[in-house]
Amino acid sequence: MIDFDNLEGYRDAVAYDQLNNLDGLEEKFFSDLAHQSGGPILDIACGTGRLTIPLAKQGYDLTGVDITIEMLEVAKRKSSAQDVSVNWIHADIRNFEIKKKYKMIYTTGNSFQHFLDRESQEEMLRTVHKHLDQEGLFTFETRNPVLSLLSADEDIEKDAGSYVDKDGNQVSSTYRRSYDHKKQIELYLFTNRIWKDPTNMIETKEHFAIRYFFPQELESLLYYNGFILEKMYGNFDLSPFQAESPLMVCICRKR
Ligand SMILES: C[S@@+](CC[C@H](N)C(=O)[O-])C[C@H]1O[C@@H](n2cnc3c(N)ncnc32)[C@H](O)[C@@H]1O
Repeated sequence: MIDFDNLEGYRDAVAYDQLNNLDGLEEKFFSDLAHQSGGPILDIACGTGRLTIPLAKQGYDLTGVDITIEMLEVAKRKSSAQDVSVNWIHADIRNFEIKKKYKMIYTTGNSFQHFLDRESQEEMLRTVHKHLDQEGLFTFETRNPVLSLLSADEDIEKDAGSYVDKDGNQVSSTYRRSYDHKKQIELYLFTNRIWKDPTNMIETKEHFAIRYFFPQELESLLYYNGFILEKMYGNFDLSPFQAESPLMVCICRKR
């Protein structure tokens, strides 16, 4: 499907945290569901624990699984600094197995879009199904494929933010993107300009790909993998899902 390492952008987890804050509405959405379902809770592709740690702080039994060791190292450092207990596990969720059932399983930060082909989507969903309590809920968000937006501004260089990398260098990033309609994959090419001394700047390139799901396709994928899509919102504020909504925020149960 792709010929590059799609995890490249997660090797500098300190930079990830600088660029990705936890939005209050996102936190409230998952907190309210955690309150409804109770624990234990499994965070799939938990990254640096952006949401795992705030939920664990509320007293829930949290397990966070991620494939990128650098992300987990930052997650562990942050949770121990805050004296928060989380069971961090380094694993590929597609073949993850633990002898425990969860009342709530979630994935956020658009991690659902990292499973690019049907095989890996089904492997991920199989893991969720196997570990979800019969009464439990599975929740995630994925970006809404608004075709007018996906086909706009292709190959135009845009600002992707600035940060200080793990070695203390100043980094300024831009990106170009394009959308492959047949594969439903959005491809990004980031250019990172890196310097300590502005007269000695180096440039690196980084590729990234995410998969888009159309609403009925998503409902079928979930259905044929053992889930009922109970609710789909257009954002974390629980607004109704519409053609132009930014997200598809899904709540599913086992069928
Ligand atoms: C955009 S980050 C989101 C991290 C976190 N959920 C958040 O909201 O900040 C995507 C994460 O997915 C993880 N990931 C990608 N493929 C994975 C897989 N097969 N199994 C476990 N984690 C995976 C990456 O390592 C990365 O930490």
